[in-house]
Amino acid sequence: MNVRAPLVQIESHLTRYTDTLRLPEHLVAAVRYALLGGGKRLRPLLAWWACEAVGSAGIASVPAGVAVELIHAFSLVHDDLPALDNDDLRRGRPTLHKHAGEAMAVLAGDAMMALAFQSLVESGLDGALAYRLVRELADGTMGMIAGQVYDTLGGLDPAADALTRVRMIHANKTGALIRASVRMGAMCGLAARDGEGELESPELRALTVYADAVGVVFQIADDLLDVEGTAEQTGKRTGKDAELGKLTYPGAIGVAGSREQIQRLSDEAMGSIRGFGARADGLRRLCDEIANRSA
Ligand code: IPE
Ligand code: IPE
Ligand code: MG
Ligand code: MG
Ligand code: MG
Repeated sequence: MNVRAPLVQIESHLTRYTDTLRLPEHLVAAVRYALLGGGKRLRPLLAWWACEAVGSAGIASVPAGVAVELIHAFSLVHDDLPALDNDDLRRGRPTLHKHAGEAMAVLAGDAMMALAFQSLVESGLDGALAYRLVRELADGTMGMIAGQVYDTLGGLDPAADALTRVRMIHANKTGALIRASVRMGAMCGLAARDGEGELESPELRALTVYADAVGVVFQIADDLLDVEGTAEQTGKRTGKDAELGKLTYPGAIGVAGSREQIQRLSDEAMGSIRGFGARADGLRRLCDEIANRSA
């Protein structure tokens, strides 16, 4: 099984989606620059394989994958702004504000947030499913923004130890959208399988445990790459977290401690989907890749 096989369809849906935009030409160009710029598409892949894990064809998850990827692209554009991480390199190219100016980067980010929700309600999905996806994506987006606030402006309980605080940052700034990706993919799959279905099935609960663990693993790996990786490898500047005084896993518990946490959380993720059998092999493969990623 090739865990990346769905990328062909995911990429083609993202491209086709941008072809439908009726907005000022330079705004569309900025959205395309941010959205089609060669990301790993982890979130749409998670949605796809979560959909497969509940027994439906992954293609049913594509509206969810496109919407989450729009929010993710918006989060990266704003994360790179001078007021946040002040980065000039993303996916091996100048960041959007370097390429098109700060005003356009702010506005294109704003646009992608609205477009994400619009894309869900206009994708021809059943109304009850669209409602649930919109609510889930709103929760994920708010979690991401809260996490960015903790990361950039603080606000966590100063009495909490560093590991508790960093876990809170990561579970929000990165974990919340990964949770939304998995849950939305699963919701698409459950709707394809059962029609309306239950609101919180045991399957959805198990997949949520998986997603929450994998989300933190993904950001610990990102922190490690910032310490140990290169710009050639990651397509973005490294060594920035220490420079900006960010609270990270390697900063809080060291590189070896971070690797132990990756192992512990990956085991938790794998354990939570044990009952799914071979249908969840895509999620298992993704978890392995996230834990061991080098880009
Ligand atoms: C980068 O996300 C921001 C984090 C949450 C760590 P990705 O590593 O998924 O970025 P792309 O989409 O592949 O560029
Ligand atoms: C970003 O975390 C999380 C987002 C919500 C975008 P980082 O600031 O570590 O992501 P990179 O390293 O710039 O991709
Ligand atoms: Mg950041
Ligand atoms: Mg950043
Ligand atoms: Mg980072």
